Amino acid sequence: MPTLQKGGGGGWPMPTVLKIHGGNPLKGTIEISGAKNSALPLMVACLLTDKPLTLTNVPNLADIRTIAQLLGLLGVECIEKGDMRTLNAANITSTTAPYDLVKTMRASVLVLGPLVARYGIARVSLPGGCALGARAVDVHLEGLQALGATCELEEGYIVAKAPRGLHGAHFTMRVVSVGATENLMLAASIADGQTVLRNVAREPEIVDLANCLNAMGANIQGAGTDTITIEGVKTLNGATHKVIPDRLETGSYAIASLITGGDVTLTNTSLECLPMVRETLEKAGAVFEDSANGFRVYQNGPIHGVDVMTEPYPGFATDLQAPFMALMGICEGAAMITETIFENRFMHVPELARMGANIQVHGASAMVRGIKHLSGAPVMATDIRASIGLVIAGLAAKGDTTISRLYHLDRGYENLEAKLQACGAVIERHRVDA
Ligand code: EPZ
Repeated sequence: MPTLQKGGGGGWPMPTVLKIHGGNPLKGTIEISGAKNSALPLMVACLLTDKPLTLTNVPNLADIRTIAQLLGLLGVECIEKGDMRTLNAANITSTTAPYDLVKTMRASVLVLGPLVARYGIARVSLPGGCALGARAVDVHLEGLQALGATCELEEGYIVAKAPRGLHGAHFTMRVVSVGATENLMLAASIADGQTVLRNVAREPEIVDLANCLNAMGANIQGAGTDTITIEGVKTLNGATHKVIPDRLETGSYAIASLITGGDVTLTNTSLECLPMVRETLEKAGAVFEDSANGFRVYQNGPIHGVDVMTEPYPGFATDLQAPFMALMGICEGAAMITETIFENRFMHVPELARMGANIQVHGASAMVRGIKHLSGAPVMATDIRASIGLVIAGLAAKGDTTISRLYHLDRGYENLEAKLQACGAVIERHRVDA
């Protein structure tokens, strides 16, 4: 089923697809947007204070609109001006995150910690499974229970209560979870006393959230390491904070430059956010050159096969596994790609196979044997990063690729067509006539 988009005049939804005529080397400059996965928890942080929180460099994406809608339902006033959002949670009218919103975006569960910490109660729909697998939230709940909340399941909703507020605690995560680290950091910042969180996620987005919370008056140390210490404070203030550049968009366009034999400069970003990805791409034949406000990336001869295993940061990001697999599809030699974060993140494999890629999946590993060139084909996107993997494959393929189910892509890539067209890609969104 193609994506349904609201039509221009009549109000009837119009199905759209992305058409790519592959084969053009990308040449030019792409400005990287603010990080979606930073902006989401940062926006949620507004729930911890009755003063306005202003965020800049916020990307204009479907997921950002979803979290703004959810915060609006809770009573948050959100003022939007370009890439700036000012959020004011002075008058919260509800502490319930409904199923309809949570099912479209799992990050909605991030409101659980701040709501129970500040209001003593939160009702958040249990997200359920998604295209990537079961994706439990048990670690979020175990952490909140350690901080003194009770968590029960009632009619599909997690009901967390802490009528006398949360207290500091020592908590070690069984599984390294980005979302649970964020949820607990948000909650513990206004809990009574000291919290020590161990075996936490170390992603740059965690550091960004800690920096913003500290600017609001929190006392958080150790973000970016595996242990975070939080001295709870009574209240937080407003602040103005700039969202960090999107490292996943950065990595995606770096791979797009390489697969097309292009030469692209990425601005408003840096190589520092991609340590393992950079090392892997260099082994595959990439050259990176630092520039004023970003870096230039191009290939130095043919692309070689490189084995990768996805891991929590600073390891190779699961979110770049699909784009990297597209690149390995045309490598000299072969690459073994092992997914260790999500149990079901190979949905792009059959779609890449439709484009001629030679990939065999054995459990959590995919063996990719490089071929000379991919061929354009109609394909279907299944999640945000599978979508960009198919776009990247389509940019390099001979002939035309048509990608349907674009709503996934629109969750994570701001102005995708315009950014790629500016580098010479032939890519357009088309309405599909019934
Ligand atoms: C974040 O999701 C990102 N989303 C994901 O990006 C990213 O793929 C993922 O981290 C891993 O890096 C946002 O930041 C909004 P996790 P999150 O909790 O927080 C298991 C994208 O494309 N787990 O770190 O939901 C879980 O099932 C998205 O932008 C538990 O078992 O991921 C998974 O196997 C997709 N119990 C692993 O941990 C829990 O309570 C890592 O998940 C929580 C997680």
